[in-house]
Amino acid sequence: MARILVTSALPYINGVKHLGNLAGSMLPADVYARFQRLRGHEVLAICATDEHGTPAELAAAAAGQDVRAYCDEQHGIQKSLGEAFALQWDWFGRTSRPQNAALTQHFAETLEASGLIAEVTERQVYSVDDARFLPDRYVEGTCPNCGYEKARGDQCDNCGKLLDPVDLIDPYSVISGSRNIEVRDTRHLQLRQSLMAEKLRAWVDAAQGWPALARSIAYKWLDEGLRDRTITRDLAWGVPVTKDGAPRPGFENKVFYVWFDAPIGYIAATREWADATGGDWERWWRTDKGAGDVSYVQFMGKDNVAFHTVSFPATLLGSQEPWKTVDKLKAFNWLTWYGGKFSTSSKRGVFMDQALELLPADYWRWYLTAYGPEGADAQFTWEHFQGAINTDLANVLGNFVNRITKFGASRFDGKIPDGGEPGEHEAWLEAELDARLKTIAAHYDAMEFRKAGAETRALWAAGNEYLTRAEPWVKFKTDPQAAALGVRTGINLAVIAAIIAQPVIPQAAAAILDAIGVPKANRTWPSGSAKDLLDALPRGHAFAAPPILFAKIEDDAVAQWTERFGGSVS
Ligand code: 2FM
Ligand code: ZN
Repeated sequence: MARILVTSALPYINGVKHLGNLAGSMLPADVYARFQRLRGHEVLAICATDEHGTPAELAAAAAGQDVRAYCDEQHGIQKSLGEAFALQWDWFGRTSRPQNAALTQHFAETLEASGLIAEVTERQVYSVDDARFLPDRYVEGTCPNCGYEKARGDQCDNCGKLLDPVDLIDPYSVISGSRNIEVRDTRHLQLRQSLMAEKLRAWVDAAQGWPALARSIAYKWLDEGLRDRTITRDLAWGVPVTKDGAPRPGFENKVFYVWFDAPIGYIAATREWADATGGDWERWWRTDKGAGDVSYVQFMGKDNVAFHTVSFPATLLGSQEPWKTVDKLKAFNWLTWYGGKFSTSSKRGVFMDQALELLPADYWRWYLTAYGPEGADAQFTWEHFQGAINTDLANVLGNFVNRITKFGASRFDGKIPDGGEPGEHEAWLEAELDARLKTIAAHYDAMEFRKAGAETRALWAAGNEYLTRAEPWVKFKTDPQAAALGVRTGINLAVIAAIIAQPVIPQAAAAILDAIGVPKANRTWPSGSAKDLLDALPRGHAFAAPPILFAKIEDDAVAQWTERFGGSVS
């Protein structure tokens, strides 16, 4: 049994996440964690809200709330929505909790002791009318790269380039709109990443479990030359800057930069979990305390890769302490809304709360996993979504399970029948199962979710194909033994179809397994020969047909949703 630590990029606190956020980290992390649990591995799945920095302050101000009260409320909302989407976290923490402050301060002090932190004077944007510095998103202006007029201080939303607020042309304050802007001196802490370039390159060279996208982003940063990075900001909300455990002189009005403390939040959330449950967080994070044999898997969108392959490892490796670093990293492309951007600020697209008003979680989980933005961007359209759900879930899986359980329940008294000898149809099915079960597991292990989805659907389709070949309803009149065999095999196959569906559509899978009466302990990933799997339920075992599993999405619904959410980018 392996031990697997799974983290998904921590969602910003600033409002309910859209389906693109869900598809690009939280959902695949959950699918992967569920799969590995089914295989019998020990899994710890950790997530948290990313609560610091200008996104949180600005969103709280826009909501007219105190930032802490805003974060309290939004954390609760995001936690409930995650649970409603059946995200099975071991812990969903908060970067604003004391565990994260303590660890962040610990890392900064340890890095400083190793000579990797310098106190420097920086030139920063200052708003005379607001009487304050304007870090990151507090300032907007024209992008020096593409000319977009509403570029944020930290990044241009139009061309994606990471920016420094002082680079903006014609800057203005987001707080007051004032253009009375100066560049003034301020003291900050810099993480001297340049001194770690060789160590980080060696570490990236040695990384085995990263896909091409992640490697190329890491090397791009390393090849451009690692720049020293300012890790403090002139803000009130965040982790206070300390020295020797006390407020650091001259830094009383400053906090750590959100991208410094956020990834440390993975460790801190594990510590929250340990504090709440009596678990041992060091066993997952310290290689000197048992984490040496942990496999650490991270999930994130592609915009987060540099922070996870360079910046966060610089913190961990620079500390010279034995911290666990990432083993496998899965990065996702973008889910697009009709080819354009899902956007939190312009409320374009479907958000997690709205999605659940329309359909149960499983519909979304299936679509976003089997057609997710892996390898390339994926386009969400209502028509594509409708087609995928109606075909895969209603016609292929739903139809198969429904046909065989209903027929078995009515003609065989809801009991697994005895009789009949496996023949050519069963041999065909066994070969299908043997091949597909192995392939599905291999795709999950490789974190190839679209392929795992396609193969899962193919196994469900084999269910319908088997019933077409075995024709138990025809045989019922002419050859009752063959009909009994068809029903027995078909019901066992429905069990396998549901068991392998659990990582993606846990609620529907549970409905099938409950109806067929499969004990919880027997719902683990199928192992053993296909022959045995197809004859696993004891003769006489009572089963029933599950309630309707999936309703088809009608054209009317698509028309309504298009009206409500828009069906185009504009
Ligand atoms: O991009 C984002 O949504 C960030 N909040 C991700 C943070 S990941 C981790 F480092 F905390
Ligand atoms: Zn730009």
